[in-house]
Amino acid sequence: MAQTRKIALHYLQHASWSALPAEDRELLELAAKAARNAYAPYSKFKVGAALRMESGEIVPGSNQENASFPAGTCAERTALHAAMAVLPKGVVESIAVVVPQVKGSKPVTPCGICRQAMVEQERRQGGPIRLLLGVVKGPVIETFSAETLLPLSFDSSQLGKKPR
Ligand code: THU
Repeated sequence: MAQTRKIALHYLQHASWSALPAEDRELLELAAKAARNAYAPYSKFKVGAALRMESGEIVPGSNQENASFPAGTCAERTALHAAMAVLPKGVVESIAVVVPQVKGSKPVTPCGICRQAMVEQERRQGGPIRLLLGVVKGPVIETFSAETLLPLSFDSSQLGKKPR
């Protein structure tokens, strides 16, 4: 007989940035600033990300599009891959994402491919990545691990391989 199984997602919705500690507010500010370097001539949707490593380094990222649309990358992966390219053994503690042009009460949330990339990073570093998704002068969604944002995800164990 089939069993019903449930997966719960716990996250925090903060009414404003001021509800957060200074270092989280700083990361959100840096993400908003990073959006200025987005290359988004096709979507005109400029996304900024800023990632904080456990060791304290901060790595910014922005979306970088291409005339061949699938070749473009999101802000989150730009930052994540830039960080891992220079700090391959680093541990990503938090990633802030801000789209300054988006107003209102609903922060932009990462796409499925970025969630997949973050899940791989969580496995690689052996610990969760916290996300701060903010609207300028608006609310912030705080999540505690990418894995909970992509339940039942595909990973290296299904390839029967351990990443080296
Ligand atoms: N994009 C991001 O950079 N991050 C997100 O979380 C959502 C979408 C980018 C991809 C593309 O350059 C543009 O936003 C429109 O989808």
